[in-house]
Amino acid sequence: MIRHFTNLHEGGQDGLLNLVERALALKAGKLHGRPLAGKTVALCFMNPSLRTQVSFEAAAASLGAHPITLFIGQGTYALEHREGVVMDGAAAEHVKEAVPVLSRMCDLLALRCFPEGKNWAEDKKDPLLAAFRKYATVPVVSLESALGHPCQALADLMTIKERMNPKGKKFLLAWAPHIKASPQAVPNSAAEMAALAGMDVTICRPEGYDLDGEVMARVKAACAAAGSELVVTDDEDAAYAGANVVYAKSWGSLQNYGVPPAASLTSRKITEAKLAQGDDAIFMHCLPVRRGLKVEDAVLDGPRSVVIDQAENRLHTAKAVLLDLLAANTREELCPTSSAH
Ligand code: CP
Repeated sequence: MIRHFTNLHEGGQDGLLNLVERALALKAGKLHGRPLAGKTVALCFMNPSLRTQVSFEAAAASLGAHPITLFIGQGTYALEHREGVVMDGAAAEHVKEAVPVLSRMCDLLALRCFPEGKNWAEDKKDPLLAAFRKYATVPVVSLESALGHPCQALADLMTIKERMNPKGKKFLLAWAPHIKASPQAVPNSAAEMAALAGMDVTICRPEGYDLDGEVMARVKAACAAAGSELVVTDDEDAAYAGANVVYAKSWGSLQNYGVPPAASLTSRKITEAKLAQGDDAIFMHCLPVRRGLKVEDAVLDGPRSVVIDQAENRLHTAKAVLLDLLAANTREELCPTSSAH
């Protein structure tokens, strides 16, 4: 069976922790040589990126692999993923051909595909990612889809572990203002990551901004398994009190899907005063971030912010993912005590 990395839940707690341990070992310089020499990876982007594109290209290159980045529909043909349609629109190629062809030429396929933002029931099926998994004959990696951003979550946990033992610490996922209805991928994966890491999870969001029910069921189950607390609240003071990690993210409402947040919610901006209610809290954000709108400059430029380390860790965790899927023999070298994925 082909192993993929398109979400956190398939690998579970062991999968998450092992990948992060290997990324920490890679950052410490514990792997030598070019274990992916001769391999080729295709990085397929339906949407813009800075960190994800560069981290995977740099990770592949430094491990000896050759990365090919494709901006789908801009230099490649636009792709159709629906079954049985008459292709008389913009898409000139179907994934039924494109993905097997890429699989014959490359050793791994990675895909970024944001949601359309019109119908959550359809978006949450992640149809293009599902089609890549269905038709690929090599491992598939999610570079962010509608439901999750698992590679970001790896870097997030790595960054937390560099500063504290996450078990029993308070992780606050704080909704932040935006001019658009942003995707839920990052908050979904951040909440799941924190729960799997054994943290007490608090999600502070305005009424009407709950995360998807199936995602929350996994977060709840992971918290229950770890014996940790899960709180969903609209009370900012209670949420920030005692927080060890404040993870800011904007996301759109599933009740009013695709509708930008009301202007009245700009008071939700992350400020120094709010952070000060925490327990020497670090400030995290996946980037890119809209300064002044979501977060005060003083927070981003201040000593609590770990956002640049968080971004750097995308590189080390990208290496860990590539090695895990393409060079499993390096696992022992990186972390002799960790179990298989
Ligand atoms: N955090 C993140 O995924 O950044 P990019 O959108 O720049 O890849």
